[in-house]
Amino acid sequence: MKNILFVASEGVPFIKTGGLADVVGSLPKELDKQYFDVRVILPKYTCMRQEMKDRMEFVTSFYMDFDWKSMYVGILKAEADGITYYFIDNEELFNTWKPYTDDALFEIKRFSFFCKAALSALPTIGFRPDLIHCHDWQTGLIPVYLKERFQANEFYRGIKTVMTIHNLRFQGKWNVRDVENITGLSGYYFTPDKLEAYKDANLLKGGIVYADAITTVSPTYAEEIKTQYYGEGLDGILNARSHDLRGILNGIDYDVFNPETDSRIPNRYNASNFRAMKVKNKTDLQTELGLKVDPDTFMIGIVSRLTDQKGFDLIAYVMEEMLSLDAIQVVVLGTGEERYENMFRYFDAKYSDKLAANIYYSEDLSHKIYAASDAFLMPSLFEPCGLSQLMALRYGTVPIVRETGGLKDTVQPYNEYDGTGTGFSFANYNAHEMMHTVRYAEKVYYDDRKAWNKIVQRDMAADFSWKKSAAQYQEMYDWLIGDKQ
Ligand code: ADP
Ligand code: GLC
Repeated sequence: MKNILFVASEGVPFIKTGGLADVVGSLPKELDKQYFDVRVILPKYTCMRQEMKDRMEFVTSFYMDFDWKSMYVGILKAEADGITYYFIDNEELFNTWKPYTDDALFEIKRFSFFCKAALSALPTIGFRPDLIHCHDWQTGLIPVYLKERFQANEFYRGIKTVMTIHNLRFQGKWNVRDVENITGLSGYYFTPDKLEAYKDANLLKGGIVYADAITTVSPTYAEEIKTQYYGEGLDGILNARSHDLRGILNGIDYDVFNPETDSRIPNRYNASNFRAMKVKNKTDLQTELGLKVDPDTFMIGIVSRLTDQKGFDLIAYVMEEMLSLDAIQVVVLGTGEERYENMFRYFDAKYSDKLAANIYYSEDLSHKIYAASDAFLMPSLFEPCGLSQLMALRYGTVPIVRETGGLKDTVQPYNEYDGTGTGFSFANYNAHEMMHTVRYAEKVYYDDRKAWNKIVQRDMAADFSWKKSAAQYQEMYDWLIGDKQ
């Protein structure tokens, strides 16, 4: 049995702000239990739902030197879907009303603490991982601490590490002096070949330099991040480590996202009855959200964090024109930057029968939108993988995407001549290119419903479950760990 430990800052069902939580909550379940004992460590945030906190039981506690103080580390434990989760408890650091704050220094402090505490906890919980799988900058210090201090101890010797980049934009950066002080790492670590980047300390870079292997969440993004345009300043080190860098596509949980069994949607359906049932979901949603009830209107769904990553600048540029001229309805669910929240509120007020802005977080409404919409718009500036378009495909909702990162790897553009393709896509980050692509989709929907329904069928037949990708992770774990006695 090979022991794998996932360390991450969020995971379904305990806490979620985006796709990282979906991955951390679903991939461990898909790894072969006969060969791998996979467990997960997360922070215990006070803002977790009470129902989740009630499931945790206390395991142990100890004090750890950190940031020139002796700090409390509580360890809790819970089971979810047959996977053991551990939680690192410290109320001074994790008592915030959202999992992440806007205070960059505080973020560095709490997640550096989390990394050191997670490593320190291992002997006391009686789980020695053969490999630690780290996710995003919040866990970048794990490979560093492991090499710098923990591996001097027999228990930790030989533990391998993988660093997975879910989003290169977030790196955990702050000035070197403070980070040296907080982390207790010596000046030796803060040079440009290690944790320093452009004069700052950079925790993700630490993970990239010290991990045994690096992965990201789609093959295209793995190539893109080696270029200056997508490299977020780390393309140099990613090129230097390109032999150890690979892209493994995310999957989604096909049990949770299944239009045939989904209890969150009013009318369940499959690949043979979607024609009748998707329309019912559409009119139900139109009624629920106060849109004009019309089964024939082309409905475009958007479920997203409202940040510039997701292409909202393109939408801002042409939304007025599209809402005033096109026979469309737009249903938005998301939270994020105020400028985008307000843009959608404005259009909702002005075109109340055509656009519904839902500026909040709701698992229920997200499923209803995936089920009801005809198309799903995701014109991202960059997209490491993207899960929303995979959910859309699963629900027969045709994705309209920009050809970048995982969107390029998962959506095949419609070709009207040979009748292939699962969606519509455009190449350049240009608002009119996006608008023309949406209008092309509209045209196919209104003028050639047969062809449209064939696209829907191909979407529902596509397989983005974890099966293939989990096998790739297993292969990598096996290769890194080697034969185990
Ligand atoms: P990212 O991780 O960059 O936000 P992904 O497409 O990988 O993008 O994952 C986004 C996940 O978050 C999907 O599961 C999507 O349904 C969900 N999501 C985003 N915003 C909301 C919201 N406001 N309400 C419910 N779910 C949301
Ligand atoms: C990040 C990326 C998204 C990816 C998700 C899970 O949040 O923005 O593209 O799907 O992580 O890997």
